[in-house]
Amino acid sequence: MKKKVAVIGAGPSGITALKNLLDQGIEAVAFDRNHDVGGNWIYSEDESHSSVFETTHIISSKTLSQYEDFTFDDFDPETADYPSHDELRRYFQAYAAHFNLYPHIRFGIMVKHCRWIDEETWEITTEKDGIEEKELFTHLAVANGHHWKPRYPNYPGEFSGEFLHSHHYKKAAPFKDKRVLVIGGGNSACDVAVETSRVSKKTAISWRRGYRIVPKFIFGKPSDKVAEQSKWIPPRLRMFLNSILLRIIIGKNEAYGLRPPTEHFGATHPTINDELLHKIRHGKVKPRMDIKKFEGKKVVFEDGKEEEYDTIIACTGYWLSHPFFDKDFIDYSSGPVPLYLKMFHPKITNLHFIGMFQPLGCIWPGAELQSKLMAQELIGNWKRPENLEELCEKEVKNPDFKQINSPRHTITVDFHRFVKDLKKQLPKNYVSKMPTTEALSVEQNQET
Ligand SMILES: Cc1cc2nc3c(=O)[nH]c(=O)nc-3n(C[C@H](O)[C@H](O)[C@H](O)COP(=O)(O)OP(=O)(O)OC[C@H]3O[C@@H](n4cnc5c(N)ncnc54)[C@H](O)[C@@H]3O)c2cc1C
Ligand SMILES: NC(=O)c1ccc[n+]([C@@H]2O[C@H](COP(=O)([O-])OP(=O)(O)OC[C@H]3O[C@@H](n4cnc5c(N)ncnc54)[C@H](OP(=O)(O)O)[C@@H]3O)[C@@H](O)[C@H]2O)c1
Repeated sequence: MKKKVAVIGAGPSGITALKNLLDQGIEAVAFDRNHDVGGNWIYSEDESHSSVFETTHIISSKTLSQYEDFTFDDFDPETADYPSHDELRRYFQAYAAHFNLYPHIRFGIMVKHCRWIDEETWEITTEKDGIEEKELFTHLAVANGHHWKPRYPNYPGEFSGEFLHSHHYKKAAPFKDKRVLVIGGGNSACDVAVETSRVSKKTAISWRRGYRIVPKFIFGKPSDKVAEQSKWIPPRLRMFLNSILLRIIIGKNEAYGLRPPTEHFGATHPTINDELLHKIRHGKVKPRMDIKKFEGKKVVFEDGKEEEYDTIIACTGYWLSHPFFDKDFIDYSSGPVPLYLKMFHPKITNLHFIGMFQPLGCIWPGAELQSKLMAQELIGNWKRPENLEELCEKEVKNPDFKQINSPRHTITVDFHRFVKDLKKQLPKNYVSKMPTTEALSVEQNQET
């Protein structure tokens, strides 16, 4: 039977899924609610899928944040060490153009429902301009992203000021002269606090635990490049050594008035920020404890401190969400996520997840390798292990890192180990820089 794959999403993961399927001569169509390629990296001041803000630059550096088939040197050798959201958007769009993917992407379309019929059939319901359509595919590749559905916190009492999630934070200007409280210790919280502190009357940041803040550069090099030198060391020992290095460079959190971390390095997703500690020591960002309750505009903190704020920005993370699946079919929102190599379902053979993992590093290089493996399977060059269910369980029980029990930690992988595990499954010559023949033939047909 001729294979026909539906890909949900034309973000960094969806485009590499599409490219690698087409590369192997497999018919594939990507659907995206957006109007161009780029997913999270299409910054918009209006409500959209994207959660990046005006000043976002990535936290993984460029040589560890590129597709092997289309590197930053192939795109623009002058790309910054930590590219901005706009450089990334242009990089992803250049990838799609280079590999002639655009004719295979249907934009402005929402995938509403995916019904698994059997091992050779999916019924996909889409909606465009209010009109629903159903179409059959043999396979489904899910690349809908996992940083778009806000996870809000709950506290006793009511806050009468403005309350928003970081997904809705776009730029600092609206917070000029306001008293702003940022909640969270992840990358969004630290970035947002730094940005609002440039214009606000006051910015404070509330942490419910202690975090290590990793600088973007160590010894003049991007810190992930420095960390890469030790990738041969087992993760636990590597993390221990990292924490010592960090202590030497940064000192103790207490020196900044911040809660000390109580867990080992890697127990929480790393927070990488060059400016937060600087802003704290310059009095621009005030560290605060966890929130106990709200009373109108007053916030009462765990240590008894009480302060008034105009705005609260909850940078409290995102739900893992697949609204196009029936909840009793697939629902990973509260974990666990038992998928072999974070992509193969234990039972459903014509389903792949691409990019649904959280590396201590960048997502799309791993998504590219997952996509190549999916394509190898579809052309019959790779077979699922017979003990797949057991392997799925094993991955859940033996994560690369032992992390604190927080909803954001259900899909963590060690970047270097994950990439190595995927490469082990692929043929040696897996890199393919040429535009796909299938895409070329579409282009040629259009020209004639
Ligand atoms: C502020 C911020 C900074 C980040 N920085 C980094 C970083 O430095 N490094 C890193 O690796 N990651 C970072 N991330 C994580 C981010 O998720 C990835 O960089 C990347 O965007 C993942 O690509 P993706 O294609 O899997 O998902 P997305 O980029 O989210 O793309 C998903 C696509 O699917 C489409 N879609 C979703 N649902 C549907 C549907 N039902 N129907 C049709 N289309 C649909 C969306 O429109 C979108 O285009 C960051 C995230 C945020 C919020
Ligand atoms: N510049 C960049 O490249 C950049 C910027 C922003 C985000 N990102 C990426 O985007 C992804 C999402 O990051 P994120 O920072 O938005 O989310 P996140 O990593 O999930 O962090 C959420 C933070 O909020 C805390 N939190 C959650 N619920 C809370 C509650 N009820 N009360 C108090 N605190 C609560 C979490 O605490 P726990 O520690 O207890 O979980 C954590 O500190 C990550 O992959 C991140 O690296 C990158």
